[in-house]
Amino acid sequence: METSFLNYDQIATEYNQRYPSSQNWERGQALLSVAAQLRAKTVLEVGSGTGFWLNLLHSTVPNLFGLDYSMGMLEQAKRQPAPLKLLRGSAIQLPYRDNTFDFIYCVDAIHHFGNHRQFIAEAFRILKPNGALAVIGHDPHEGTSNWYIYDYFNGVYDTDLRRYPAGRSVIKFMEAEGYQSVSVQTIEHILNVHVGEAVLRDPFLRKSATSQLALLTDEEYFSGIRRIEKVIANAAASHEKIMFSSDIQVKMHLGHKLGVANAVGLATHLPRWAVPGETTEISELFSQ
Ligand SMILES: C[S@@+](CC[C@H](N)C(=O)[O-])C[C@H]1O[C@@H](n2cnc3c(N)ncnc32)[C@H](O)[C@@H]1O
Repeated sequence: METSFLNYDQIATEYNQRYPSSQNWERGQALLSVAAQLRAKTVLEVGSGTGFWLNLLHSTVPNLFGLDYSMGMLEQAKRQPAPLKLLRGSAIQLPYRDNTFDFIYCVDAIHHFGNHRQFIAEAFRILKPNGALAVIGHDPHEGTSNWYIYDYFNGVYDTDLRRYPAGRSVIKFMEAEGYQSVSVQTIEHILNVHVGEAVLRDPFLRKSATSQLALLTDEEYFSGIRRIEKVIANAAASHEKIMFSSDIQVKMHLGHKLGVANAVGLATHLPRWAVPGETTEISELFSQ
């Protein structure tokens, strides 16, 4: 694996296959809920990809903005039914004026941004007072997720440890950049178990389905596939069941840019996600 940056133009046309219409995504519910609590009128997704999440917000948010580095992904996003204001640009140099957005979020994208802290700082700059940033995704640094892809494809887990910020770092960066009432919550639990050769039909096992596999050379990818096929064959020969599980906790880190009045009295109208008792407050997290 020579690089850990993926050009999403290569996989843009296939990307939406990961969102079958039959599935109800709890990440979408969390986004809707935060947007409603913030009474957000102007929302930006950074690393907006094909615009899937922005489109979900269409019913409640009048002004939806998406920023992405990949022209291919932006082309796909243009096809969403929701009118999206799309821009090509970099997450660490956001091309927007100070104090522009009520709500900024990224989903499964911060690990691509290279400089996590700079993105969090840039988001703070362009948030309006009383706005909030949500960073959504899984955290390979935490022992709670278990994804069979990590077991069968050499180097993928280590690459993810390098690319993804640990949840604690996201919190530290948010606090250092001035966000208040920073909280973390599990918003979705992805649990799929494939038995035996059914795993070979897992859409997430296609090379173009995730950056984890797309970053591999063909040789690295196919040697992982062969490893999987071998354990399936061995299990069949000994009449055993072999299971491949994707058991992933999706977290949302949420930080608020308080207005002048709130900065003194703290937290009068914070979203449900930030209410003490319902979320893990930072002080608890560091005392664990
Ligand atoms: C895994 S996709 C997630 C897309 C979308 N958020 C979703 O959940 O469907 C990551 C996206 O981040 C974009 N991206 C990667 N690096 C970026 C950067 N530095 N600035 C802006 N977008 C970037 C990619 O082009 C890609 O569309």
